Amino acid sequence: MVKKRVAVIGLGYVGLPVACVFAESGHPTVGIDVDKKKITLINKGVSPIPGKERGLAELLSRLTREGTLRATTDPSACSKADAIFICVDTPIDNSKNPVLDQLINVVSVAGKNMKRGVLVSVESTIPPGTMRDKVIPILEKESGMRAGKDFFVVHCPERVMPGLLLRNIKKYDRVIGCLDEASLRKGSMFYSSIVKGKLHPTDLMSAEIAKTIENTYRDVQIAFANEIALACEELGADAYEIRRLVNTCPYRDMHTPGAGVGGHCLPKDPWLFASAVTESSTSMIETARAINDSMPEHLAELVVEALDEAGRRLAGSRIAIFGLAFLKDSGDARNSPAIVVIDRLAGESEVIVHDPFVDKGYKVPLTRNIDEALKDADCAVFVTEHSTYDSLNLKKMARLMRTKVIVDGRNLFESSECRKHGFVYRGIGKGK
Ligand SMILES: NC(=O)c1ccc[n+]([C@@H]2O[C@H](COP(=O)([O-])OP(=O)(O)OC[C@H]3O[C@@H](n4cnc5c(N)ncnc54)[C@H](O)[C@@H]3O)[C@@H](O)[C@H]2O)c1
Repeated sequence: MVKKRVAVIGLGYVGLPVACVFAESGHPTVGIDVDKKKITLINKGVSPIPGKERGLAELLSRLTREGTLRATTDPSACSKADAIFICVDTPIDNSKNPVLDQLINVVSVAGKNMKRGVLVSVESTIPPGTMRDKVIPILEKESGMRAGKDFFVVHCPERVMPGLLLRNIKKYDRVIGCLDEASLRKGSMFYSSIVKGKLHPTDLMSAEIAKTIENTYRDVQIAFANEIALACEELGADAYEIRRLVNTCPYRDMHTPGAGVGGHCLPKDPWLFASAVTESSTSMIETARAINDSMPEHLAELVVEALDEAGRRLAGSRIAIFGLAFLKDSGDARNSPAIVVIDRLAGESEVIVHDPFVDKGYKVPLTRNIDEALKDADCAVFVTEHSTYDSLNLKKMARLMRTKVIVDGRNLFESSECRKHGFVYRGIGKGK
């Protein structure tokens, strides 16, 4: 394989593992980020990504020791690169509009610093039309070069999940949107050196739509499961059992309900897609977002209901929340449903949060010790299905807690078992 110089801009959940796999496959790689603390850690061979991230810490430590990967805050470091991979965050604002400032900023920087013949790949998730209307015009303006002639452009969106970042990058198929045949050839050369899955070439717009819709599809499916879960609570049924029964029918694949969705992607990618659609309806997508956003608030209401059944009021109660991360066994708390639950409960009650992976708390004390969280609690609320919670023992919980109340956002407990041990039990999708 020909070794080429690679620059990766944005060293977060996506960019850091991307930089690592390029360096691992022999390309001298430079990672660029504005976050000085991150750069210092990375250059020491320490991963700034919290949680269980299989293989990343070991790989990063080896690559920085060997000198195949280095990190810098200096954006001009991309000037020698044969390929530049853009992996910055693409969030939404409070009105659900895309915030593309980071993307535009790094595209300008890349345009100012890139050499002739370079491949520019945007891996960030972007609203349909962004490559055509923003990325290419900015690159051309800042570089004074022509796309397709002097440099090459692809949009190859990422499909990683925190916890499995390296594995997902290497194994999953990838959609690669290309400006033209030459961009496809260049893009395929780089991606085939790190991706074992298939590359699916298409045009830039189709790649933008496909990525935002992958996550929108999942969000809509989860919203459907959540709507049925709320109905099951009213009807006195168990939504998880209903899901199991439904999925015994061929061609059905009902998703799992729960306390809400979070992370950097699912809550905003539907809005990135919808922002580009001005004449057609996106009402199903918007309704799905509203349903999923309402689930953590519903979980908090179940806490109030369950406490009431146990003869307690929210005011003066001690609530133990289990899981601050949005995802099982991850330390990623971005847009976590737990944040909404804390905001709703913390004003009136004393709240403590347990999470085995998240480093930084939110508003209330954070502990890694389950017993400390349970001690004298009046309600244990489960927001995230971390594996640690599989081994919780109801007898021991009953001993430690002041009031025996469990509110289950992830179907972690059998309601009959909880009741046998004297608990008041409420759960998402669990009718009484
Ligand atoms: N996190 C995921 O699991 C995931 C999965 C698939 C796709 N994506 C997409 O990938 C993109 C990146 O997501 P992420 O989770 O890695 O975000 P992140 O917030 O973890 O990382 C983004 C990084 O970009 C850096 N950055 C911001 N502005 C910069 C600038 N001007 N110059 C240099 N660096 C800058 C930030 O400091 C940060 O380190 C987003 O578009 C996201 O939607 C994320």
